[in-house]
Amino acid sequence: MLLSLFASLLAVVHAQNGFDGGPYFTSPETYPSPNITGAGGWEAALAKANAFLAQLNLTEKAYMVTGADGACVGTIAPIARLNFSGLCLQDGPAAIRQADLASAFPAGLTAAATWDKALIYQRGIAMAEEFRGKGSHIALGPVVGPLGRHALGGRNWEGFSPDPYLTGMAAASTVEAMQSVGVQATIKHFIGNEQEIRRNPTTTPNGTTVAAVTSNIDDRTMHELYLWPFADTVKAGVASVMCSYQRINQTYGCQNSKTQNGLLKGELGFQGYVMSDWGATHASIETVLGGLDMDMPGSLSFSATGTDRPSFFGGNLTALVQNGTIPETRLDDMVRRIMTPYYYLGQDQGFPTVDPSTEAISNARSNRYQLPIVPARDVRANHAGLIRVIGSAGTVLLKNTNNTLPLDKPANIAVFGNDAPDVTNGLAIVGNSSIGTLMLGGGSGTARATYVVSPLSALLNKATQDGTRVQYVTDNSEIARGNLGGLYPLPDVCLVFLKTYAGEGNDRSLFTLDYNSTAVMSQITSVCSNTVVVTHSVGINTMPWADNPNVTAILAAHLPGQESGSSIVDILYGAVNPSGKLPYTIARNESDYNAPILNLTGTPDSYNGDAWQSDFTEGLMIDYRHFDNAGIEPLFEFGHGLSYSTFSLQDLTVQAVSGNTPSAPSATDQVTPGGNPALWETVIAASVTVSNTGDVAGATVVQLYLSMPQDSVPSGTPTKVLRGFEKVMLQPGESSTVQLPLRRRDVSYWDVVSQEWLIPSGEFSISVGFSSRDLQANGTVSLISS
Ligand SMILES: *[C@@H]1O[C@H](CO)[C@@H](O)[C@H](O)[C@H]1NC(C)=O
Ligand SMILES: *[C@@H]1O[C@H](CO)[C@@H](O)[C@H](O)[C@H]1NC(C)=O
Ligand SMILES: *[C@@H]1O[C@H](CO)[C@@H](O)[C@H](O)[C@H]1NC(C)=O
Ligand SMILES: *[C@@H]1O[C@H](CO)[C@@H](O)[C@H](O)[C@H]1NC(C)=O
Ligand SMILES: *[C@@H]1O[C@H](CO)[C@@H](O)[C@H](O)[C@H]1NC(C)=O
Ligand SMILES: *[C@@H]1O[C@H](CO)[C@@H](O)[C@H](O)[C@H]1NC(C)=O
Ligand SMILES: *[C@@H]1O[C@H](CO)[C@@H](O)[C@H](O)[C@H]1NC(C)=O
Ligand SMILES: *[C@@H]1O[C@H](CO)[C@@H](O)[C@H](O)[C@H]1NC(C)=O
Ligand SMILES: *[C@@H]1O[C@H](CO)[C@@H](O)[C@H](O)[C@H]1NC(C)=O
Ligand SMILES: *[C@@H]1O[C@H](CO)[C@@H](O)[C@H](O)[C@H]1NC(C)=O
Ligand SMILES: *[C@@H]1O[C@H](CO)[C@@H](O)[C@H](O)[C@H]1NC(C)=O
Ligand SMILES: *[C@@H]1O[C@H](CO)[C@@H](O)[C@H](O)[C@H]1NC(C)=O
Repeated sequence: MLLSLFASLLAVVHAQNGFDGGPYFTSPETYPSPNITGAGGWEAALAKANAFLAQLNLTEKAYMVTGADGACVGTIAPIARLNFSGLCLQDGPAAIRQADLASAFPAGLTAAATWDKALIYQRGIAMAEEFRGKGSHIALGPVVGPLGRHALGGRNWEGFSPDPYLTGMAAASTVEAMQSVGVQATIKHFIGNEQEIRRNPTTTPNGTTVAAVTSNIDDRTMHELYLWPFADTVKAGVASVMCSYQRINQTYGCQNSKTQNGLLKGELGFQGYVMSDWGATHASIETVLGGLDMDMPGSLSFSATGTDRPSFFGGNLTALVQNGTIPETRLDDMVRRIMTPYYYLGQDQGFPTVDPSTEAISNARSNRYQLPIVPARDVRANHAGLIRVIGSAGTVLLKNTNNTLPLDKPANIAVFGNDAPDVTNGLAIVGNSSIGTLMLGGGSGTARATYVVSPLSALLNKATQDGTRVQYVTDNSEIARGNLGGLYPLPDVCLVFLKTYAGEGNDRSLFTLDYNSTAVMSQITSVCSNTVVVTHSVGINTMPWADNPNVTAILAAHLPGQESGSSIVDILYGAVNPSGKLPYTIARNESDYNAPILNLTGTPDSYNGDAWQSDFTEGLMIDYRHFDNAGIEPLFEFGHGLSYSTFSLQDLTVQAVSGNTPSAPSATDQVTPGGNPALWETVIAASVTVSNTGDVAGATVVQLYLSMPQDSVPSGTPTKVLRGFEKVMLQPGESSTVQLPLRRRDVSYWDVVSQEWLIPSGEFSISVGFSSRDLQANGTVSLISS
């Protein structure tokens, strides 16, 4: 009764807003919202959450799910009589952003480019130690949405890679690491949050509402691409999921019952809570019944003079429960879901207080200065060393002709480009800067560094040790118009530092590097026959100068965080042998990329209420899958990255673990976090031996790609997909055998009819190599005879 009443309410709301959408891409109503069960080891914590809940009155229950005023980016208010000191939520995926004396870590993109599970885990530990040290219970990271459907997506760098397997591994490892320190991780943004433009609704000049962009995603693509890494983190026990601003199949992320009740809490068995992105809550009833558990930043004011701001939760929730529109059992489940991870991670057992400098830092960000200065707790420990290591491990050597790198005490070098020198617009990234190195992108995913080692300062330091002469020009406009600073003598090597910025709220419009990079390169290469290019970038760039023979080396150094200059000098001079691999594809031409961002700005449809329809018609074919499918030769392929050494592979073995593998996973009584546990069982065992055949110690990444038997899978299946990788450090002449297990989900496709992961019959091809197009050993295996 209640639900049918709700359904008709919802229909009215939809019709009013013109959200009834097309007949195809709509989100099926999926109610009720599943209750937490404690499955997966959270039973004892759930019992404690129940005991806590039993002591709350209705007002307090509403407080527990509604953000309040506080020094943190988000706050759940304390309840003093229960000795509950509240919850502090802080940005973001690469650092505790709103803090003094904290570290600026490498971005998720850089972590992905290391392909190093151990380093990714250590990064998670170190970041979480800083959140904890500052008294932040909940870290608003890591990011797996955007996944990277669009090459120019403005937030791709906050996440890892457009490959769901690599992203899932990196994100799950980050979640495990962070939560091992007792900090709750938040996986975001759920789901289909692939572009920034029109991510939120807006109001036209005449006052009508223009709905946010809707990501229209078919069921198979949802499972095999966008939901895949979320599933990995649910399996890893992530405490929180942040729902996204934009719509999915016409329905806003935070009230989409299909994605939240159906996919997340139902199919994946998620036991934690769904938190709204800041201001992404657009309703009371639809969100609560649609699976949202916490409204952020909420509205409650606890200052003596303050009054609550309007909120869809808070007092509205109390009223809706009191008159029976929302069952109190649903509110109880919301509170249980919020408190169970708190107890599970022992946050009731003494947690640091919120750092007293937090509010002052928050004010300083908007140039409201507070005196006297409040001393901050220094949480940086020895993390600078790890940051430096990850910065170089996430640097990809794309080209190195004539072994121009590593440098060996050159007599005379020149440094060019606006990415080389010290930052000139402050250490808390507040936007793009025309001159100054780029260590991270902007927005909620950035950091407030206490220092940034710029490439130029690190190179000058190294040059002083080596007795090298350094000439430099760092103003790209000057270089672009041919002012190379009156070079004399001509340098042995020209090092060019180029950058590409992006920040939350906007997408990129250029594929090339920013600030006249093409003109800059043309001027430098016309003079310098040994030009080494280093990019600091939020992601994919085209490189129209890459084949110029005067460009002898290219390094994609991504976003390395505060030790940027140290990390790149380690690579340039060979103190560290490069081992990063591209976590995306670099195309020859912009037009080689598919799935452009939907941008109606400036068109008549821009203010058409429901025109922002983004149909994910490319399905599974993003990034390298698209290049393979369309037969396009990339400039630098997914997985590519050179070393100062050479490596070879031998003795690939591939075998089915069982003689009889059923196509569908066995049914399960209880869904545990991650979904049916059978999906995670190993069904194929592969191993291969890798050798360092050069004369320098170094690491490489063994990569496994799987091709499904094309005759027995639905159309739209990619030619091959990454399904295993391992980074291996080897001395010259050393060999090591690597195990690459494939789990049931890895070798299945999502069958939309049976709503199940199925293993196809016939022969799988398994290729192992050092990139997606350098496949040196092949094998086949069948699990089900055709
Ligand atoms: C979106 O619509 C497509 C097409 O009908 C359907 O396959 C898919 O399951 C829907 N997904 C959601 C989350 O509503
Ligand atoms: C959740 O638990 C309550 C009891 O607390 C029950 O009334 C409700 O039906 C349950 N909901 C679901 C979806 O199982
Ligand atoms: C609920 O508890 C709060 C104290 O936490 C108190 O201020 C409020 O009056 C209580 N409400 C009811 C209805 O008992
Ligand atoms: C309830 O929500 C409506 C819509 O946002 C808002 O106008 C109103 O102020 C809210 N009430 C409370 C008590 O927050
Ligand atoms: C319940 O309360 C809400 C909020 O005050 C109100 O909008 C709604 O009309 C009420 N519903 C019923 C059935 O009384
Ligand atoms: C209150 O909580 C703190 C930890 O936050 C704990 O150390 C203390 O023992 C608790 N006090 C009571 C009375 O439970
Ligand atoms: C979107 O379109 C407008 C108008 O053409 C343009 O100014 C803007 O740069 C575009 N944005 C992006 C990110 O491409
Ligand atoms: C490109 O260089 C020209 C001068 O050659 C300058 O006017 C322009 O501002 C530069 N553009 C950027 C984006 O730096
Ligand atoms: C390469 O550099 C040399 C100067 O050393 C110059 O003469 C030549 O034109 C350059 N070639 C290209 C393709 O820029
Ligand atoms: C690189 O090697 C090629 C052929 O071995 C040679 O022609 C070219 O001059 C070399 N370039 C540099 C910068 O040494
Ligand atoms: C409001 O303006 C938009 C375009 O800006 C137009 O499409 C729409 O019809 C207008 N609505 C009303 C009610 O005037
Ligand atoms: C392995 O297979 C791939 C195609 O899947 C092919 O490009 C490659 O040459 C093969 N390698 C060997 C060593 O046969």
